[in-house]
Amino acid sequence: MVYAATATAPVNIACIKYWGKRDTKLILPTNSSLSVTLDQDHLRSTTTSRADESFEKGDRLWLNGKEEVVKPDGRLGVCITELRNWRSIEEEKDSSLPKLSQWPLRIASYNNFPTAAGLASSASGLAALVASLARLYQLPQTPSQLSLIARQGSGSACRSLFGGFVAWREGVKSDGSDSLAEEVAPQSHWPDMHAVICVVSDAKKGTSSTSGMQRTVETSTLLQERLRIVPGRMEAISTAIKEKNFEEFASITMKDSNSFHSVCLDTSPPIFYLNDVSKSIIAVIEELNRSSGKIIAAYTFDAGPNAVIYALKENIPKVLGAINRFFPTSEEPRDPFGIAAQDLPEGF
Ligand code: PMV
Repeated sequence: MVYAATATAPVNIACIKYWGKRDTKLILPTNSSLSVTLDQDHLRSTTTSRADESFEKGDRLWLNGKEEVVKPDGRLGVCITELRNWRSIEEEKDSSLPKLSQWPLRIASYNNFPTAAGLASSASGLAALVASLARLYQLPQTPSQLSLIARQGSGSACRSLFGGFVAWREGVKSDGSDSLAEEVAPQSHWPDMHAVICVVSDAKKGTSSTSGMQRTVETSTLLQERLRIVPGRMEAISTAIKEKNFEEFASITMKDSNSFHSVCLDTSPPIFYLNDVSKSIIAVIEELNRSSGKIIAAYTFDAGPNAVIYALKENIPKVLGAINRFFPTSEEPRDPFGIAAQDLPEGF
């Protein structure tokens, strides 16, 4: 008998960036971070997991139809092992449960947007994987408990297990048991908050977040200053979200993006994620805010040149107007493909 479960997880875009690990094996961060999870309908990963006693030995995984090797001690392997362990605990408690924990897995995951282009594909991918396995194994754990596992796959993935506004608390314990994601406010709290994604380039990024972070931790002195400032920003932005104070939210978001890219520049050799188009987007949004007489839009950039612009719904036409005026394009907006239309990979 085959058991299967599908789950989707959206991309999350950090307003307070995670950049730096204090433990590279457990993926424990040097600072807490906070993000907004985007709408399910747009940028998302969808993962289907199947377990079958009759599958040939060994787990197999396909990403966008291409098979990837699952190394047992790699990040994916660690997530799968931890979730299997939780399942076997349930099987020990209730002997009538099928022994899914002992069966090989087949996992297929799709992104409906470019992979590894600084659009946080690892976050949604790992979160969807953890959510689909948790569903397949019918685990009783809460999203915060599952975030402990997703974190070990890709740090920022722990935040994609929640919708809305999400904090990843760095934690103090060396085993990582308190380094988890928590909801700050659900999406319904501030439904007018919108995000515009400007895909400046869909090429794979030059420096991976893993090696970039390591280099920053080893060589940047500015990082220490950033780590001193972030706790205050976490408090202030959480309050701004609770009070729906857009200007405060936006001002902190832009400052933190600039601080993150500054520590990248302070790394040796330096890391440049922003390109000239990214910098022009910053100039356009700064000018839009100045000419509006108040802050109506906030830019933020992850480890790549693409911009995410947060604005309230009423101001989205102004943001799009400004972007289209400075960056006219003849290209039609791209229609992301739907998972339902995908052919499942051979062997799945
Ligand atoms: O989780 P990772 O290894 O993909 O790192 C994400 C780092 C940033 O996207 C730049 C910041 C963040 O908090 O998402």
